[in-house]
Amino acid sequence: MCGIVGYVGDNEATQFLLDGLAKLEYRGYDSAGIAVGENGTIRVEKSVGRLSALRDKIAGNEPHGHIGIGHTRWATHGRPSDLNAHPHTDCSGDFAVVHNGIIENYLSLKEELIEKGHQFRSETDTEVVAHLLEEVYEGDFEAAVREVLRRIEGSYSLVFMSRRDPDTLICTKQDNPLVIGLGDGENFIASDIPAIINRTRRTYILNDGELAVVKKDSVWITNRSGEPVTKKVFEVKWNAEAAEKGGYEHFMLKEIYEQPKAVRATISPRMAKDGRSVAMDDLGWSKEFLSSIHKIDIVACGTAYHAGLVAKYYIEKLVRIPVECDIASEYRYRDPIVDEHTMIIVFSQSGETSDTLAALKEAKRRGAKSLAITNVVGSSIARESDQVIYTWAGPEIAVASTKAYTTQLILAFMLSLYMAQILETQTEARIAELCSALQRLPGQVGETIEDVEPIKTFAKKYGFNEDVFYIGRSLDYDVSLEGALKLKEVSYIHAEAYAAGELKHGTLALIVEGVPVIAIATQKSVYEKTLSNIKEVKARDAVVIGIAAEGDNELEKYVDHVIKVPVTDELLIPVLAVVPLQLIAYYAAITRGCDVDKPRNLAKSVTVE
Ligand code: AGP
Repeated sequence: MCGIVGYVGDNEATQFLLDGLAKLEYRGYDSAGIAVGENGTIRVEKSVGRLSALRDKIAGNEPHGHIGIGHTRWATHGRPSDLNAHPHTDCSGDFAVVHNGIIENYLSLKEELIEKGHQFRSETDTEVVAHLLEEVYEGDFEAAVREVLRRIEGSYSLVFMSRRDPDTLICTKQDNPLVIGLGDGENFIASDIPAIINRTRRTYILNDGELAVVKKDSVWITNRSGEPVTKKVFEVKWNAEAAEKGGYEHFMLKEIYEQPKAVRATISPRMAKDGRSVAMDDLGWSKEFLSSIHKIDIVACGTAYHAGLVAKYYIEKLVRIPVECDIASEYRYRDPIVDEHTMIIVFSQSGETSDTLAALKEAKRRGAKSLAITNVVGSSIARESDQVIYTWAGPEIAVASTKAYTTQLILAFMLSLYMAQILETQTEARIAELCSALQRLPGQVGETIEDVEPIKTFAKKYGFNEDVFYIGRSLDYDVSLEGALKLKEVSYIHAEAYAAGELKHGTLALIVEGVPVIAIATQKSVYEKTLSNIKEVKARDAVVIGIAAEGDNELEKYVDHVIKVPVTDELLIPVLAVVPLQLIAYYAAITRGCDVDKPRNLAKSVTVE
């Protein structure tokens, strides 16, 4: 999982490469490098560390040239180091390559190339690609690249440059994203749109197996067999500022504050004009079609998986179709029972998560119908799935997912209502009641972020604790899981979420004097039970912070602090209850001086297994 860029045109390549990489650091940031065609050679500059380290290294001596490639890395093969940073070159320095993905057969290729006399400098899988290109090159750059592609196995997006074809970049992809930005007298290549949006809004989104020969005034795209491909220009509609911080100290905070807008944008286009039902008719589902679905498998990773758990609850409660919710990296290897009566629903903010994509392909191969819920238009998962619905959250840049989660919950809820409408598993009156609650939600999300002072105070007081526990039952447990993940990933505090009823089966042994426990108690049907569990941890002298709905005057009698969220139908409370948990994680990370938007060892989009 890395970010790659390419430039060919009338302007300075280095400028675009560095600016573009800065926008892709969310994909990886343990080293960075660029290769620029300069005075008939390929000049490569790379450095371990953030992009800023590379900028410092070349300051005052930047490569000058009109063609180049760049890379920001998240290490898979070989530790972060100058040598392992991309671009990688062949022995002669005639070719340079940047890569996002994994070359699975690199070891056998490396042995073969070493036997032929190639000398390797790095521990990466990618370097074999540069040497292989050198090995098979017979005077035709494109033909040599095609031969390389025939020999390598794995997932990749790749950009190649050649000293012998100084006006040409070649790029291709398999299972990892790549876009081409179309300029005037210049063209751009990038892993993702934020890298090029300041230069152009006109793009080609490459499909698997396509290869593009990119020059400053032409882009020639062919398929795996070399036949020309006619592509439609995809016009990017985002606002450039949307991908910037807009005055907030961190993207994570900005994205937390964008939630009312994101939730509204996700709800509004799918609400019927009279506001009493859901309009998702684009899906074209009928009673007959839904009756043929006997089981739904929800598959995702991380935060998206936590949204999937809530979706399972919604579908089973409102539609009465059995649902299994699985972590994608488990699902794809557990020989799931799937047939043509199964529907797989995958959740993915980026639409590029490798395990989720593989799970989707596996379920489809076994005959399942498929639906993707994603935030990125034209992403690999969106294209692979039979059908797709988009969370209109706007670009999510912080590694910690916030607005993607809340909008995923919204779509899970609306999808469940839509299915309930078709299958008539809920009355019209109940659906209208839930739709009305939905429409109040954006304003209520806004209320949860109005006064963050108490949260800042907790964060200061408890931010240096080593362990924090989250407890809840039913939907509150699902939200606890997400709260604990947020705290772990941005503040590095050890956080665990437990189903409150499970505590006494082991975890209670960890509850000692002063340990913070965040107890979520918003679900009426299990409220009394959760209260008993809160009393159990209080009896062990834990410090308890309760999350409750407005109007609950009971919880505060048993806990040390309470955070209240607005009253809504309890099915929708997760959308509100998660917001204080996001803020607790954010301010705890600030208290501890962590790099909130770029937590250690993580990357935004996990495009490797
Ligand atoms: C969220 O805070 C995490 N960074 C991570 O768990 C993320 O949700 C997961 O990697 C899945 O990503 P996706 O939604 O892009 O598929």
